[in-house]
Amino acid sequence: MPLADPTDPFSAVTHAAPYDYYRRLADGPPLRFEAQLDGWLATGMAGVQAVLAHPACRVRPPGQGVPHKLAGTPCGAIFAELVRMNDGERHAGPKQVLARALGQVDLARLHARTLHLAQEQLPGSATRLNDALFELPLFVMADLLGFAPAQWPLLAVWTRDFVACLSPLSNGAQLAGAQAAAEALLQRFTVLLWEGEVLPGSLLDDIVAGARQAGWHASGGVLANLVGLLSQTCDATAGLLGNAIVALRTQADFLPRLRAAPQLWPAMLREVSRQDPSIHNTRRYTVEDVEFNGVCVPAGQMIVVVLASAGHTEAGFGHGRHACPGQAIAHVIATACLQAWAEGLERMPLAWGYLPSLNARIPVFCAGGIA
Ligand code: HEM
Repeated sequence: MPLADPTDPFSAVTHAAPYDYYRRLADGPPLRFEAQLDGWLATGMAGVQAVLAHPACRVRPPGQGVPHKLAGTPCGAIFAELVRMNDGERHAGPKQVLARALGQVDLARLHARTLHLAQEQLPGSATRLNDALFELPLFVMADLLGFAPAQWPLLAVWTRDFVACLSPLSNGAQLAGAQAAAEALLQRFTVLLWEGEVLPGSLLDDIVAGARQAGWHASGGVLANLVGLLSQTCDATAGLLGNAIVALRTQADFLPRLRAAPQLWPAMLREVSRQDPSIHNTRRYTVEDVEFNGVCVPAGQMIVVVLASAGHTEAGFGHGRHACPGQAIAHVIATACLQAWAEGLERMPLAWGYLPSLNARIPVFCAGGIA
């Protein structure tokens, strides 16, 4: 029986084959009201870019900087400081500091280091692979920041627990786990920052120096955004890696071509980011009436920005004020992991579905036939 099409952009995220649906969205108007969602859809490259670039389209609903369920909690305190979750002057400086420090990471060294770590942790089963998709990128970020290897596994567990507070699908137990994880992460970063353990030349060192220069003194804000670097890495990079593994399984010509010309790995990853991206949508909220090519969106409306309908590598990493500063790092991490794992994975029988999510497409593998 043919697979029924997704009915909305949220169910499309974990649908087995959502891209015809996204193409149809892109062929329609760049901006439309969807009564079913009580909100607007921005689609295709034109709609996505117009909304993400518009100064009156903000990342949070007006007057609700922190979601109600997180107000007054450790997760809420972090959320309130994240550059990703805020607009405006107060966050412009911190945003620049983070982007500059991430931009200074030595990508060749990062690649060599990730390759080494990934080779040490070859996933020998579907279960190990599911864990490794999350762990390797987080271990690499923890390493970049200057944490000792003994600390990486717990940091990865806490980060995965913490990101549950960002998903509307999380239940009470997951939210409670996220709060405990938020406290643990803040504590670890506090120790790293204030007890003289900042490794000279590490990413953390660059961020601290940049913050000092920029006059960004609020230590709570620095700590929160360091946690933010781990949480931004978590789902998005696991999705990129996982979707690339799916591409290697489903597109038989990829691996032979890569074997013959290993320099094509980065191009293959860019192609995956375009064809089967890990982040499918993001949301914006209008703070005043906004007009796009004759369509008026009143103040106080939600717009679901359907990144996956843009059909473009760059769109999957956002655009405008909140564009992802970690794109190059994520691609290098995923490239190196795949180079380390591809041959072993080729022989592993795998089937897959997707982790429940309204915006991130992350495969979850199980032992099964070669799809
Ligand atoms: C495949 C992996 C990744 C994807 C697809 C991705 C995607 C995105 C997207 C779509 C946004 C914009 C969200 C919005 O405006 O609503 C974003 C923001 C961000 N990403 Fe990434 N990301 C990835 C990996 C990373 C990594 C590895 C890091 C850290 C090194 C990172 C750090 C950030 C930060 C700090 C922001 C907030 C930027 C701001 O608001 O100024 N991301 N990312």
